[in-house]
Amino acid sequence: MKLLFASTNPHKVREVHAILRTLRIEVIGLDAVEHAGREPVEDGDTFAANARIKAVHYARATGRWCLADDSGLAVDALGGAPGVRSARYAGVGEDRLERDLANNARLLRELEGTPPADRTARFVCSMCLADATGTVVAETSGSMQGVIACEPRGHNGFGYDPLFVLPQFGCTSAELPPDKKNVLSHRGDALRRIARLIRELAPLF
Ligand code: IMP
Repeated sequence: MKLLFASTNPHKVREVHAILRTLRIEVIGLDAVEHAGREPVEDGDTFAANARIKAVHYARATGRWCLADDSGLAVDALGGAPGVRSARYAGVGEDRLERDLANNARLLRELEGTPPADRTARFVCSMCLADATGTVVAETSGSMQGVIACEPRGHNGFGYDPLFVLPQFGCTSAELPPDKKNVLSHRGDALRRIARLIRELAPLF
């Protein structure tokens, strides 16, 4: 059973694949399907709205069941920023790696002088599952609580992982082995909330 996950981010596709493997569902990214077409405009004000836009768009474009996620970082001292603009916070960068580096540099600048106690943040993930006609079947969300470090640490993961400290483990999410991140992460949290439904629906995928 193959489920389309509406992302071209190989890190995210790998994470969702690993989380759903226990349900014997193979997750494929947008790169693996033909006729995915153009990217939709993600102009929602919330993670949930953008996840819905992607799930409905790619389900209709491909005629397949589609799971989409929209995720990002919400920093308390910045009023919830970068939020839905997490992927392009710095507004520069040719590719994903350059954008991630620029985003992390901007985040550190914005938090300069902010004491550790006020650097609390959370990763948030909203997910939407649409059927092959583009009808929304399920929506879910999850989060992971942490603190923003003063310098990057670790090489696993992507995005803001090198700056996201999990105080209970004394390391950043980029220092966690991937399977451990999947147990703790906002994406893992969101998926586990609809895992039973996904398992029941899987024969239709
Ligand atoms: P999206 O692809 O539009 O959902 O953008 C998500 C952005 O949020 C990414 O480009 C990252 O900057 C950030 N992000 C989301 N999830 C994670 C994560 O698990 N680790 C690090 N950064 C993340």
